[in-house]
Amino acid sequence: MVIKILNGSPRKENTAAMCEAFAEGAKEAGHDVEILHVGKMKIAGCLGCEYCHGKGEGTCIQQDDMTQVIATYKDADMVVYASPIYYFGMTAQIMAAMQRVYCIGKPPKAKKAALLISSGSPGTTNGAIATYKDMIGYLGIEDAGICCLAGAENKADDKMAAIKDMAKNLS
Ligand SMILES: Cc1cc2nc3c(=O)[nH]c(=O)nc-3n(C[C@H](O)[C@H](O)[C@H](O)COP(=O)(O)O)c2cc1C
Repeated sequence: MVIKILNGSPRKENTAAMCEAFAEGAKEAGHDVEILHVGKMKIAGCLGCEYCHGKGEGTCIQQDDMTQVIATYKDADMVVYASPIYYFGMTAQIMAAMQRVYCIGKPPKAKKAALLISSGSPGTTNGAIATYKDMIGYLGIEDAGICCLAGAENKADDKMAAIKDMAKNLS
């Protein structure tokens, strides 16, 4: 499968470690994996102008880093959403990227998704999980796994191994 991982963290720390573990496992299983560090990119929020559904014919009126994300994201058989929790939800950066996909509608080939979440404290992931489940329900794609790590679990060897296994065993 072609797997695109959207990393919504602006830092190369906990969420990045989860992405690397997932990518390592998936690559070992023969998948083609790319991590898109959307948390570090310049991606503005959707303007809701509907240019993409009219004159733009599937292209966005805004020229920013989302152009390069869309160019590669549209090939995905699987999308992995990865984000730290910022005030009970995913980061504004990954949400902007998820919403800007509006211009192409549903990624045409995507059949599977997964969610990787890093937080400081446990019990803060309900909002992110609900957003993810609603999003994949809308996209009509199957959940292949959710992993949430909090506090000291972040970067822990056993947790990284579990994420790697999850990616290795994708059907
Ligand atoms: C602006 C901001 C808001 C945060 N809000 C929460 C929160 O609501 N709940 C929580 O458990 N952790 C919260 N955190 C902590 C991060 O989720 C946590 O440190 C995470 O591991 C960071 O991931 P990263 O290293 O990939 O950036 C917040 C951190 C920041 C910077």
